[in-house]
Amino acid sequence: MRKQIVAGNWKMNTTFSDGAELIKQIILKTDSVKNTQLIIAPPFILTSEAGKLTSNTKIEVSGQNCSNQAKGAFTGEVSAEMLKSAGANHVILGHSERRAYYLETNGLINEKIKISLENNLTPIVCCGEVLDERENNEHFEVVSKQIKGMFYGINAEDFKNIIIAYEPVWAIGTGKTATPIQAQEMHKFIRETIMNSYGSEIAENLSILYGGSCKPSNAKELFANPDVDGGLIGGASLSADDFIAIANSF
Ligand code: 13P
Repeated sequence: MRKQIVAGNWKMNTTFSDGAELIKQIILKTDSVKNTQLIIAPPFILTSEAGKLTSNTKIEVSGQNCSNQAKGAFTGEVSAEMLKSAGANHVILGHSERRAYYLETNGLINEKIKISLENNLTPIVCCGEVLDERENNEHFEVVSKQIKGMFYGINAEDFKNIIIAYEPVWAIGTGKTATPIQAQEMHKFIRETIMNSYGSEIAENLSILYGGSCKPSNAKELFANPDVDGGLIGGASLSADDFIAIANSF
């Protein structure tokens, strides 16, 4: 049975105290959430605090990125092992903002996926096309190439601990959401792509999340699709009420 998941990517928002307060507000509202896994991905400065505050709650903690290196002289980097030791059990990898602003490639993301799995972190691996690619009808080809590159050398056993997030870049932070039909057809395509490499059991158990201007007002129609297993939420995850309302949209 695949999991329903709502994950909040806080991006570079909140100070330490604002973030701790937001975590406390979310915890207070989780009683209404029944069959949905909640994950929050605060900035690194809050990973350890989030780990402490959420122990014995329904909420799990994620990093927003990690290094492709295990340890050593890599100034400014945070390793998968460090994240795990601070209380995270997930990590978002390959986000389009990392690709666009920090020039991350599918090859680099592949290394990060491998090192995350070695450290028992579940990667939430992002894919998605930019507007030009969608307008030129290249979106399936682009996502297929991202998946092939990012999961090179990843085996079926590893795939039991992987979540995929489809985030059309033109929908991120723009208020322009993919239609339920656009989301469903891409999620189905991703599941079929994984099925072709890893078989139907792995593909059926894989949670595929939608990200891109997902909010309480549109989450229900997106999550109603058979291949949409939840959301990776940016802006709306910074409001405890909105985040919980989205989690209750299945
Ligand atoms: P928004 O929900 O703000 O569009 O961001 C989506 C996202 O990038 C989540 O990773």
